[in-house]
Amino acid sequence: MQIFVTRQELNNWRQQMRASQQQVGFVPTMGALHDGHLSLVHQACTANDFVVVSIFVNPKQFNQSTDLQSYPRMLEADLARLSNFRNIVIFAPDEEEMYPQDLPYKPMPLGQIGSILEGSRRPGHFEGVVHVVHHLFALVQPSKAYFGQKDYQQLAIIRQLNSYYGFGIEIIGCQTVRETDGLAMSSRNLRLSHQDKQKAISISQALHYVQNNAGKNTIDEVKNAAISIIEAAGLVLEYLEIVDPNTLESCSEWQATQVCCIAAFCGEVRLIDNMLCESVL
Ligand code: PAF
Repeated sequence: MQIFVTRQELNNWRQQMRASQQQVGFVPTMGALHDGHLSLVHQACTANDFVVVSIFVNPKQFNQSTDLQSYPRMLEADLARLSNFRNIVIFAPDEEEMYPQDLPYKPMPLGQIGSILEGSRRPGHFEGVVHVVHHLFALVQPSKAYFGQKDYQQLAIIRQLNSYYGFGIEIIGCQTVRETDGLAMSSRNLRLSHQDKQKAISISQALHYVQNNAGKNTIDEVKNAAISIIEAAGLVLEYLEIVDPNTLESCSEWQATQVCCIAAFCGEVRLIDNMLCESVL
């Protein structure tokens, strides 16, 4: 498995791939890899000749320095988890390599989709995501790039970025991978104790509740019952919204398809999750 830490190394490799007409897929990550990441890598490896996995904890997307400091970093363990894949290369740059001073960058206006849900709670977060993904896409120039649907809003913004900058990459949204008890896999789960995890299951329970009851009662009744599930478990809810799957605007009436999005604190750890809800109207 080749590990590149500089843009130049990755560029050289990329040119060789182009010369030999190999199709390159891309899985961007911030490391602390779990089975959700591995499932993205697996899908990418199946559909491409080679796959670049980037590992970079992007400071620009953290709106709180404590969150950045406590984000798990475990490069050795990550490399070990990736060692079974045969057709991958790793790009693990440092901050200077990721953001060279002289690299031109024109920020993308995020618009309405960037200012709601996560956008309103984490100022600067999506601007930071777009900045790093722009640089990574420009460098890796993949045919296909893979992102988890757990970060539903991020995925929508990546699609917007792809067309805004004209990258022409096929963006593939991959299903959220869950523990057997329903908890969505996340690098942040490493910071949860066993007891915290028991409480955090209430997020997926609330999502299933909304999924099973969509269209049966008023949207407010269903939302309130789902909120009670989370609060009864002792989590501090930041939001529970039932939104349009394209605009991510909150809905006050049921539609055929909606997405329920949740952000909640389990102790110090902020967790997000979402689930598609289909109503028989
Ligand atoms: O989803 C993530 O892990 C990050 O936001 C990403 C896309 C790797 C950008 O840093």
